Amino acid sequence: VTIHDQQLHRGQGGELHQIAEDGHDILTTAQGGPVSDDQNTLRVGARGPALMDDFHYREKMFHFDHERIPERVVHARGYGAHGFFETYESLAAYTRADIFQRAGEKTPVFVRFSTVAGNKGSADLARDVRGFAVKMYTQEGNWDLVGNNIPVFFIQDAIKFPDIIHAAKQEPDRAFPQAQTAHDNFWDFISLTPESMNMVMWIMSDRTIPRSFRFMEGFGVHTFRFVNAKDESTFVKFHWKPKLGLQSVAWNEAVKINGADPDFHRRDLWQSIQSGNFPEWELCVQLFDQEFADNFDFDILDPTKIIPEEILPVQPIGRLVLDRMPDNFFAETEQVAFMTQNVPPGIDFSNDPLLQGRNFSYLDTQLKRLGGPNFTHLPINAPKCPFHNFQQDGHMAMRNPVGRTNYQPNSRGEGPRESPTRGYRHFPSEEQGQKVRLRPESFADHYSQARQFFISQTPPEQRHIAMALTFELSKVENPVIRERMVSHLLNIDETLATTVAQKLGIQSMPKPADAAMPTRQDLEPSPALSIVER
Ligand code: HEM
Repeated sequence: VTIHDQQLHRGQGGELHQIAEDGHDILTTAQGGPVSDDQNTLRVGARGPALMDDFHYREKMFHFDHERIPERVVHARGYGAHGFFETYESLAAYTRADIFQRAGEKTPVFVRFSTVAGNKGSADLARDVRGFAVKMYTQEGNWDLVGNNIPVFFIQDAIKFPDIIHAAKQEPDRAFPQAQTAHDNFWDFISLTPESMNMVMWIMSDRTIPRSFRFMEGFGVHTFRFVNAKDESTFVKFHWKPKLGLQSVAWNEAVKINGADPDFHRRDLWQSIQSGNFPEWELCVQLFDQEFADNFDFDILDPTKIIPEEILPVQPIGRLVLDRMPDNFFAETEQVAFMTQNVPPGIDFSNDPLLQGRNFSYLDTQLKRLGGPNFTHLPINAPKCPFHNFQQDGHMAMRNPVGRTNYQPNSRGEGPRESPTRGYRHFPSEEQGQKVRLRPESFADHYSQARQFFISQTPPEQRHIAMALTFELSKVENPVIRERMVSHLLNIDETLATTVAQKLGIQSMPKPADAAMPTRQDLEPSPALSIVER
């Protein structure tokens, strides 16, 4: 560009500005046209009708009208930050993932913390699971570890995900509660889903009202695989341990904070990073082989179970430091697209049926939320390593193949080719079986770990769990649902069940729940249910 008259000025960084008579930048349209008046629409006379000629007004309003994109179907409210991951030691014996080959290597990361059920504008301290999603921009592509601050999940099979989320979010006829699990739909579903009982104990604990993101643990939840250069696999569970330790607020504090400052967690992260007080976590792993997995009481493919740290201690393998807030919330925190299927060579999936279902869902949802197949062209989602492919066109394409060749193989010897040795190789596990819809027997014990978790809590923490259950269930209108929940609690801890039942005013204790999956008969509306609902 040549500076051809007084209207263009070169800034300190070499960039060009259109400048006004008095030297300030001229406001322009998105097409670059200089604007003369941004206060008044073009009209016939000062009091007359507006004119179609007013392309500046039309463009400005058109753009404003299209500012919103769909909020995430879950985890809508979130807050992100940039940072780095530093590898402690080479893990080459276990994985060929480039990020784990060299001690001291730093990899850029973007992290987004979130609540699951609340809408985008909901309050930070709602009782809810927190998302802990980490995108690591490795030298062999992005690795997204899309975790939560609770190590287990509500359901064992992805096919139940739409149901648990429908039940947890606002009820369809009344559109409330907007960010609370304390309502009939949620507890109805939970009470009919015994596999959720371990998760229920965790979410009724103080873990779901964290003091700040900086004091939270994070978990990959599922069993993943490390695969080394010799194609040997080791199972791995991922844990993030906060350097500041684990802290929560009490329920009465959470309620007050939500009223006084619904942005409490956002403000906390913003202030700590802006003041140079960078939060830090250690990435820890539990590593085990098939033999260990076979001897274990529970199925390591079942995402409602943990592997207790007493049985298999966690080992730190690196640290995560968050040291920079995004320049723009929308461009980075809103548009970041996490996907469980983003794994580099050396990290692979297990057959956990929840993980396998997630691997389908995330790509699908990004297409809708970010408006097309080119969301990886957004800087926050683009890899930071070299990348080449023949993908082309589509809405908002920012990158297209250069030159004539856009396919492979081609006889011009042009463009990138696959590499059988350096490319991603899926672990060649042997699989066989009939095509069935069946929950394995090894997924059937829904209460032992719920009991272990409850017993592991200190007396004040146990009281908090009882109080949380009492509060939540007291918001449930239907007595059948409340009693059904008490019948599950009886399988977990009798004192807990009795305490909650007494506080809810339940006169005679129900029988302990049947641990089996609900039958079709259980799902028929009971007489009591229809009376209340009418
Ligand atoms: C977000 C699906 C289970 C953690 C999402 C989103 C979808 C989804 C559709 C919205 C993504 C977006 O719009 O960007 C599912 C399905 C699941 C499942 C189908 C089970 C079958 C889980 C589990 C965890 C988890 C078990 C934790 C281990 C997250 C997190 C986010 C998220 C942290 C927010 C990511 C962000 O901050 O942008 N999930 N999810 N999800 N999910 Fe899941």
